[in-house]
Amino acid sequence: MSCSLKEKILELDARIPRYTSYPTAPHFTTAKNSGFYTDWLEALPTGTDISLYLHIPFCHQLCWYCGCHTKITRRYDPVEAYIQLLLQEIDTLSAHIGKDKIVRHIHFGGGSPGILSPRDFACLMEQIRETFTIDKKAEIAIELDPRNVTEARVAAYAKAGVNRVSLGVQDFASDTLAAINRPQPFYLSYEAVTLLRSYGISGVNLDLMYGLPFQTVESIKDTVAKAVLLKPDRIAFFGYAHVPWVKKHMRLIEDSTLPDKDLRYDLFQAGAAAFEKAGYRSIGIDHFARENDSLFKTVGTSHIHRNFQGYTTDPCSTLIGLGLSAISKLPQGYSQNSPDMSAYQKAISNQTPPAAKYRAITPEDRLRGDVIERLMCHFCVDLPALCHAHGVNNNHFKEEIMALDAYQKLGFINIDEGVITVKPEAKLMARAVCAAFDTYLNIADTAPRHARAI
Ligand SMILES: C[S@@+](CC[C@H](N)C(=O)[O-])C[C@H]1O[C@@H](n2cnc3c(N)ncnc32)[C@H](O)[C@@H]1O
Ligand code: SF4
Repeated sequence: MSCSLKEKILELDARIPRYTSYPTAPHFTTAKNSGFYTDWLEALPTGTDISLYLHIPFCHQLCWYCGCHTKITRRYDPVEAYIQLLLQEIDTLSAHIGKDKIVRHIHFGGGSPGILSPRDFACLMEQIRETFTIDKKAEIAIELDPRNVTEARVAAYAKAGVNRVSLGVQDFASDTLAAINRPQPFYLSYEAVTLLRSYGISGVNLDLMYGLPFQTVESIKDTVAKAVLLKPDRIAFFGYAHVPWVKKHMRLIEDSTLPDKDLRYDLFQAGAAAFEKAGYRSIGIDHFARENDSLFKTVGTSHIHRNFQGYTTDPCSTLIGLGLSAISKLPQGYSQNSPDMSAYQKAISNQTPPAAKYRAITPEDRLRGDVIERLMCHFCVDLPALCHAHGVNNNHFKEEIMALDAYQKLGFINIDEGVITVKPEAKLMARAVCAAFDTYLNIADTAPRHARAI
């Protein structure tokens, strides 16, 4: 009996990274001090385009599915104290970066950057504007929990030049929301979107998830229908990464309430079909965009990229991460700030960058990173052309191509004279194809560290 493509995909029960970087974060190593980072920053050529990422690691209530680096607080004073540290971190870095660099993208992520008071948000943006040169057309984005959206905050975002928000919705079904400890009725998202648009903030993304407790094909269709009513420009439709061995609080979600991999697959397909029917175009493995959206405009071009926030139009090869646990990407490699508040605080009070881990990128990493980014963004990679561009032999990936023959036989990909194309119906397998090029995964990843591929 012949197997359907779905059955073949489900047979592969691999645990694979999301490939928002290569090498991936588990392969960063502890730094003795932050000297490497200041050297890297000082070597950036004059006029380099840079992006900034600011991490706000606080939330008011814990969502049990949360995979982010955050801490729960009901009080505002820890947040206020943290903002003072963040302002000092910006100040410390400015001495090594220089005002000649041009900021093209700013992203506030978390945790919940939406819990900042309007005053603190304005203060951060003011410091950024004083420290760096910001491109007039820069994208300034913030991740918002609809439960934190107030008119005073939205007014502060608009005044500071925020032009894109990502609203964390996840699902609209009340049984699912109760099982993930995220009470959030539909009207909150509706009011947030209405308020943001009334202040001229036009780029609205929604974050939705599949694979959550009690989701059914019917419930996901209903959630998508409600999401579409809000007319978001972009939707991120993330597969829930259930990793209770990393994030202990995920044990609060009963295993028996989670969809099995068969249903997860159907949930994704049902959601994707509903978005496409509503006029959204599928971008990358888990994003959907409307015609007016900047990510939509990247279709068929080389202007789509992948960074720690997922898919982006941001082409900058230099991303400066600020705040607890934030990751930076520089031409020389990756650097990660300490995730430990006292270590972070100590570095800041010593006026040194809080860089705690790093990974210099070798030419081989750069080549493999390019292969992986192309597969994740375009589902196609011309290996001979890429090898030529990186100055290596055409046969460089002979072993990988041989290993991938198994996927070709399963009908996931085509390999034609070194050009690998992931078939549209097997998009969910893109990460598994990338894994064939990940030399670190084979060596070190015997433990169940990552979430399932599907
Ligand atoms: C850092 S959160 C920030 C948004 C904001 N804190 C909120 O929840 O509204 C960004 C997004 O990551 C996604 N996310 C969080 N935990 C996840 C997990 N375990 N698996 C997959 N996606 C996850 C959610 O869709 C969430 O909206
Ligand atoms: S999902 Fe968002 S709001 Fe919920 S705990 Fe995580 S970062 Fe906080």
